[in-house]
Amino acid sequence: MPLVTAVVADDEILNRELMGEMLPRFGIAVRTVKDGVQALKAMEAEPADLLITDIRMPGMGGLKLLLKAKEKWPEMPVVMMTAFASVESAVESMRQGAYDYLMKPFGVEQVEALLMRLNERAGLVREVRTLREEVRDRHRERRMLGDSSAMQAALATIARAAKASSTVLVHGESGTGKELVARALHDQSPRATGPFIKVNCAALTETLLTSELFGHEKGAFTGADELRIGRFEAAAGGTILLDEISEISPELQAKLLRVLEEREIERVGGNKPIAVDVRIIATTNRDLLAEAQRGRFREDLYYRLNVIPVALPPLRDRLPDIPAIIRHYLAIFGRDVGVKPKLTDSGERLLLTYRWPGNVRELVNIVERLVVLGGDAPIDADAVRRCLPELARQTAAASSSTPESGLAIEATTTLTLEAVERAHIQAVLTRCGSGNKQAAADMLGISRRSLHDRLTRWGLDPGT
Ligand SMILES: Nc1ncnc2c1ncn2[C@@H]1O[C@H](COP(=O)(O)OP(=O)(O)OP(=O)(O)O)[C@@H](O)[C@H]1O
Ligand SMILES: [Mg+2]
Repeated sequence: MPLVTAVVADDEILNRELMGEMLPRFGIAVRTVKDGVQALKAMEAEPADLLITDIRMPGMGGLKLLLKAKEKWPEMPVVMMTAFASVESAVESMRQGAYDYLMKPFGVEQVEALLMRLNERAGLVREVRTLREEVRDRHRERRMLGDSSAMQAALATIARAAKASSTVLVHGESGTGKELVARALHDQSPRATGPFIKVNCAALTETLLTSELFGHEKGAFTGADELRIGRFEAAAGGTILLDEISEISPELQAKLLRVLEEREIERVGGNKPIAVDVRIIATTNRDLLAEAQRGRFREDLYYRLNVIPVALPPLRDRLPDIPAIIRHYLAIFGRDVGVKPKLTDSGERLLLTYRWPGNVRELVNIVERLVVLGGDAPIDADAVRRCLPELARQTAAASSSTPESGLAIEATTTLTLEAVERAHIQAVLTRCGSGNKQAAADMLGISRRSLHDRLTRWGLDPGT
């Protein structure tokens, strides 16, 4: 859970402006409001990762806002801002669940130190979650499945590359199995007994990521109360996974290039190079060479990373992988729940028509949903349709993207007439704007009344 968005509530315009200027420097998009009511409204419209609020404000003050926010978004950290005179209320708010407070007047260093603590906390939350996933994965016999030629080629590359310590660049859309490749490389390598450390480069601001990767000496900056070992040092003897490498800043790209060339790092605030023995694996869901050619990524770094490329095509381009993956996870989830559902041919055919925008991760989740919701019943086309409403939406998207709003349903798609009708109506509504029911009805060639009836029948908001 990286910190990306924040809401700041303060009745003093100067403070709003100050925060509005400071937070974006740390990569945080900020919305500022002038009291508690507006803050709640803003977060209801779009949730935030962090709330920073003044305590004394006209209308709804900070304490009341804190309680409401904790009730609605218990995981979101809330930070109070307060003048020295009202330090008691700051203490009180901590008792009520505030994460921390900023004493006014504060400067950019205090804000940075605060964000540092918050990100460490987010890192902890993240680690617990990864740990849980890991336990699940291990129980699922973390295997890379796939009969397609693309997958077979990837597996062969992994087996060979595992023996060396060469840098590997894994490329693929989200959910295609990039992390699984990295783990397989580590597990099959002589480093398997060493640490496997993962760093999400997109989750942290530049300053935080730098000290996360390289560590810092005591006193390197405000808040650096003691020496901290970075992830590179922690991964010594093992593997470091740099996830979403395309997101790092030019400064960090330069530092990383040095690590790759010299195999040594320097802690923030330190001046002696430290040798590190790590295998580096980077992942990206972008075309990194194209990014390099556009000047958004250092070309020399790209070549240093791309020593051994592994490309994972999107799942929709390797359909032969789907049946084996489904069967594997059916057995695993079935064992968990104590059922043995069978996938029928019609169910399998329908699953193969879906585009799988979330790739293997989405497929695994759908299989889990099918098992949990369907129990022992055979998984046929009907069951798939019930568990995968996205299928209908995919049809809707296809129809709205064609000119004349004509339907583009592939003959292989097995959909009921009603599903097609519903998808088409939704597509037309999207085109006309959901407020303009008359235009939609005209385009559909039905009366407004009859459009209204259908929407009501499907449990959709018919509007007025
Ligand atoms: N070939 C495969 N065989 C079996 N399971 C797979 C395969 N590929 C991916 N998975 C499973 O799919 C899920 C997503 O995989 P993973 O986390 O490796 O994807 P990713 O490419 O790193 O995604 P993101 O870009 O979102 O980080 C995991 O649960 C993983 O075990
Ligand atoms: Mg990943």
